[in-house]
Amino acid sequence: MKKVLVVDDDKNILTTLQVHLEDMEMEPVTARTGCEGVEMFKQVKPAIVLLDLKLPDMDGLDVLKEIVATQIKTYVVIITAYATIDTAVNAVKMGAFDYLPKPFTPSQITHLLEKIAKVHSLQSEVDTLKEKLRGIERVGDFITRNGKVRAILKTACQVADSNASVLITGESGTGKGILANLIHGWSSRKDGPLVTVDCTVLQENLLESDLFGHVKGAFTGAIRDKAGKLERADGGTVFLDEVADMSPQIQAKFLHFLQHREFERLGDTKILRVDARVIAATNRDLEQLVQENVFRQDLYYRLNVIEIFMPPLRDRREDIQLLAEHYLRKFATENNRDIKGITDASMEILQSYPWPGNVRELINVIERGTILGCQDHLTPEDLPPHMVNYTPRKDSDQKLQPLSEIEKAHIKEVLLHTASVEEAAQVLGIDPATLWRKRKKYQLD
Ligand SMILES: Nc1ncnc2c1ncn2[C@@H]1O[C@H](COP(=O)(O)OP(=O)(O)OP(=O)(O)O)[C@@H](O)[C@H]1O
Ligand SMILES: [Mg+2]
Repeated sequence: MKKVLVVDDDKNILTTLQVHLEDMEMEPVTARTGCEGVEMFKQVKPAIVLLDLKLPDMDGLDVLKEIVATQIKTYVVIITAYATIDTAVNAVKMGAFDYLPKPFTPSQITHLLEKIAKVHSLQSEVDTLKEKLRGIERVGDFITRNGKVRAILKTACQVADSNASVLITGESGTGKGILANLIHGWSSRKDGPLVTVDCTVLQENLLESDLFGHVKGAFTGAIRDKAGKLERADGGTVFLDEVADMSPQIQAKFLHFLQHREFERLGDTKILRVDARVIAATNRDLEQLVQENVFRQDLYYRLNVIEIFMPPLRDRREDIQLLAEHYLRKFATENNRDIKGITDASMEILQSYPWPGNVRELINVIERGTILGCQDHLTPEDLPPHMVNYTPRKDSDQKLQPLSEIEKAHIKEVLLHTASVEEAAQVLGIDPATLWRKRKKYQLD
């Protein structure tokens, strides 16, 4: 609620308002013509617009019309010396929030902005209550209507404030990363750092130094002392992403840290103590890896004090429509596209598709559709061809198949319909390294 656009051709008014708004810790931007105002509005997407009715190139009401047509949520206040009550009423009918006659005092502007803040907070409360009534839970960017995921949020909130390690499991793109963010944000460590360590870094030395830091000369290329991410997470949370990819040596060193809360930088003997909460995530079956002796059992138990499993999207189909519509609104606004919804035919395709790349794949599909779509609703033509051609197997010819078979077949299909591995990974909603691993596993290369 900080960005304010002021559209007025009077330079003095612009300057006065700009200074006053800055004093109120708002972020004002200004435009002196209607055209410039509309352009600026689309670019900046301000929360509030102060709009003069009499502009050199356009009628202020026409500017208002264009602002309303963008469907971007904003509060427009008409400011003018010329309008009659009729024009003011008209403007409010057209979607303006309020009307302020010129000349006005700074305290009138302050009062108006306070009024907008109050209305806005009430409106958000009403929106949240309405969503709750429809079974929708929203925390920040995270949104769900599925009972299991709502229960996960509750557990996550309960454990957030403890120091217990949390292991988040689930397929790629199900929301493990965003959940780790929520847990950190709910904890009393929220003002401390949340530091993510990507354990898929292939070179062992690099990951070890990234995590624990190093001293000058520890290895070739270590030209100066460097703090690791664990040190930087002091007072906060360290998030080990794709923890299954840790090498045995780093697993041993990290286990030592979990047991004693101390470690050394690479090449150093000085013991460092750090207070960091650990959250780890993986899309692989850690228990299986423990049995195969690839992952240390003792580390597994230490990480797994609380385990949270994020279900795949195909097992919570009620979230498909919710997420699709949520992201459609987001991308339509971001790309200034006038797409209002999703046709029934497209929704049917989205609902019956198995979403191996989960929420990330859904987001990619919706973003692509929003950019390519040329109608006011997302049609099947705006969806990737491999989705439209996807036919779920009928019950009669359905032999129950293991997930790996379905995954293999789907990856094969996507690779066939995409130009590069990078594009295939993007469509699947997984990173190229994961796709590379899966291709090797299924012998698809
Ligand atoms: N319930 C949700 N509501 C809104 N956005 C979501 C939700 N779940 C996931 N997302 C979004 O989907 C994308 C993928 O989520 P995230 O990166 O957390 O998945 P992940 O399980 O960590 O995947 P990976 O294993 O590939 O790292 C992110 O952009 C995230 O913001
Ligand atoms: Mg992730």
